[in-house]
Amino acid sequence: MMKKVGFAVIGLGWFGEKHVHVLSELPGVELVAVCSRTEARAKEVASKYGAKKWYTNWEKTVRDPEVEAVSVVTHVPEHRDPVILAAEAGKHILLEKPIAGSLKEADEMIAATEKNKVHFMVGHILRFESRYAQAKQIIERGDIGKIVSIYARRNIPGGFAAPHLRYGSPILLDAIHDTDIILWYLKDNVKSVYATWLNVRGSPNPEITWTIYNFSKGTKGVCESLWFLPDNTAFAIDAKMEVLGTEGAVYIDCGDSGLEVNDKKGVKRHDTMHWPMIHGEIAGALKDEISYFVKCVMNDRKPSIVTPMEARHALEVVLAAEESAKTGKIITL
Ligand SMILES: NC(=O)c1ccc[n+]([C@@H]2O[C@H](COP(=O)([O-])OP(=O)(O)OC[C@H]3O[C@@H](n4cnc5c(N)ncnc54)[C@H](OP(=O)(O)O)[C@@H]3O)[C@@H](O)[C@H]2O)c1
Repeated sequence: MMKKVGFAVIGLGWFGEKHVHVLSELPGVELVAVCSRTEARAKEVASKYGAKKWYTNWEKTVRDPEVEAVSVVTHVPEHRDPVILAAEAGKHILLEKPIAGSLKEADEMIAATEKNKVHFMVGHILRFESRYAQAKQIIERGDIGKIVSIYARRNIPGGFAAPHLRYGSPILLDAIHDTDIILWYLKDNVKSVYATWLNVRGSPNPEITWTIYNFSKGTKGVCESLWFLPDNTAFAIDAKMEVLGTEGAVYIDCGDSGLEVNDKKGVKRHDTMHWPMIHGEIAGALKDEISYFVKCVMNDRKPSIVTPMEARHALEVVLAAEESAKTGKIITL
């Protein structure tokens, strides 16, 4: 019989629960434990998804001998500590994006995972989304020639986004998705960045952000990331990418999910790509990302679709964009 990977999930907010849900359905995984500081939440999630144990302390979670790998789904200020403890306990780690809030923390995590020889992957989910992943293959084949311009959009309803503004700006938390994909497609470095933002509602971070990248080999890039769509918008996520090359172009449209429903509550485009429920189970990019990581752990293979250094690089670039938005200056990297 196939040996199962003993998994724990640390952080049980709305996204941590999605990780738990996916892991509870993967055949190669034993859901050993879930962890949240709030006991009632830890118990609730453990019983809903059949986790064997629950903890209110991440140290106990990573020290559990039945736990071989952890998903860290706490928010950005609580990424570093559980990752370092897990690495020191010899556990493999899937960490939600962004890797950290600072390069120092990212470097400390990378050093700890390398020193303790554990697999470490940051969940840059778009690398597993079928449209963005297929576009990468098309670009690699040279079908559109040399990329000269990239435009990315990632906009979400203001009401949904509001609580997340406590942890960072849409540049750090959302444009990092597109920035990572742009860097992946281009295999080039950002030479300079200019960003500008607007705080409309007095939120802890601005809701309106625009970022312009200049790449070393001349390509121009723009990321639009607005956490201000009206709450009754039809979009779940209004995301697009337009990649223009010397020989052609690639257009990705995730705003049109292909499933629009008009009912008593209004018109909504349902998620069909990130974590849709199909036949009672989660499908889509999140499942594909987690399954890939589980396979890497099972076969003791270093995750290569997204590496820790690439996650660090995306962070470096968005932090420079934030610096530009704060100072009004063009930042050279
Ligand atoms: N890839 C994607 O598309 C995507 C989408 C959404 C979010 N994310 C990422 O997922 C992460 C979590 O986001 P979220 O929105 O789910 O955050 P959240 O709702 O704030 O949840 C984080 C949870 O972590 C728990 N926590 C905090 N400190 C803890 C500790 N010391 N020990 C155990 N649990 C602790 C908190 O619960 P307690 O207070 O009970 O401890 C909280 O419920 C972020 O990094 C975010 O960027 C990624």
